[in-house]
Amino acid sequence: MMEIGNWKSMAGMAETYRKARELGLETNIAELEAFGFTVIPPEKTGAPRDFTRRLLDRVIEIAEDEDATAVELNKHNDTKPADGRQLFHLLKRDPLFIETLMNPVTRTMGAYMMGQSYLLSSMVAFLKPGPARPTPMHTDSVGVPTPLPAYSSVCNVSWILTDYTVENGTFGMVPGSHRWCRHPIVSEQPSFVGGALEEGMCVPVCAEPGSLVVFTGNTWHCTYPKTTETPRSHVVVAFCRNYVYPGESNVDMPDDLIAQYGPEFARLIGRNAWQGYQAEGPVLDRLLAVRPAYQSQHG
Ligand SMILES: [Fe+2]
Repeated sequence: MMEIGNWKSMAGMAETYRKARELGLETNIAELEAFGFTVIPPEKTGAPRDFTRRLLDRVIEIAEDEDATAVELNKHNDTKPADGRQLFHLLKRDPLFIETLMNPVTRTMGAYMMGQSYLLSSMVAFLKPGPARPTPMHTDSVGVPTPLPAYSSVCNVSWILTDYTVENGTFGMVPGSHRWCRHPIVSEQPSFVGGALEEGMCVPVCAEPGSLVVFTGNTWHCTYPKTTETPRSHVVVAFCRNYVYPGESNVDMPDDLIAQYGPEFARLIGRNAWQGYQAEGPVLDRLLAVRPAYQSQHG
């Protein structure tokens, strides 16, 4: 096995790769590079045995407590991107969500895809209590015009909370589509005949509770129609590159939670970002913090 040194040309990637190797993620990274997605099994996440169950219980509890119409997307049944409930801005609602973000496997995959200056873009819980329509084929590169960059601007690390099968409306992915550098067009939508997906480019990604389904922001994906009555849920941890405007704002994160979860948590949710300055200009330390390691001279 090749030794990974502190190579100056790598801008933090060597450190991220070493961490990935330590966590047993090298095969997952290879799959991500080759196919645009991977499934990390529960035992690799290192999460406590009951973590996923507690997370699911909390998602269901929040969905029951929250007025569904408080979420703008829930009001547009015919035009919204996905069926079922979506719960937003979760970090403050329970430490379980912060632990989902701060899990070393979640973060290592995020840092691998988005670079060490990566940020949390959003955390969203998807909950489909009963049967649901398929979600159309799309990429998660919201607002990024075609052609997409060859490297993705955003990525998706989804913590799977229930059994993801075709019947339960799991993800469909198009292997290799992360290299096509564009969004799908209308004529490329898969057709669902009698609830089943016609044979095409899309393959189902099945995963047990506690798995992480990981994919790039360039990867084409959809969801299968859900035909079962049992709940289906996952929590998306979406990361973005440092220059992307994050989906959610956590400016209201209480200081005690910042202190409890530390500087990397603060950085991930946009505290100490170099962006957003006025006439005083950027804070030098914040600027230096996101500069690639190999740039040792001031420009
Ligand atoms: Fe998506």
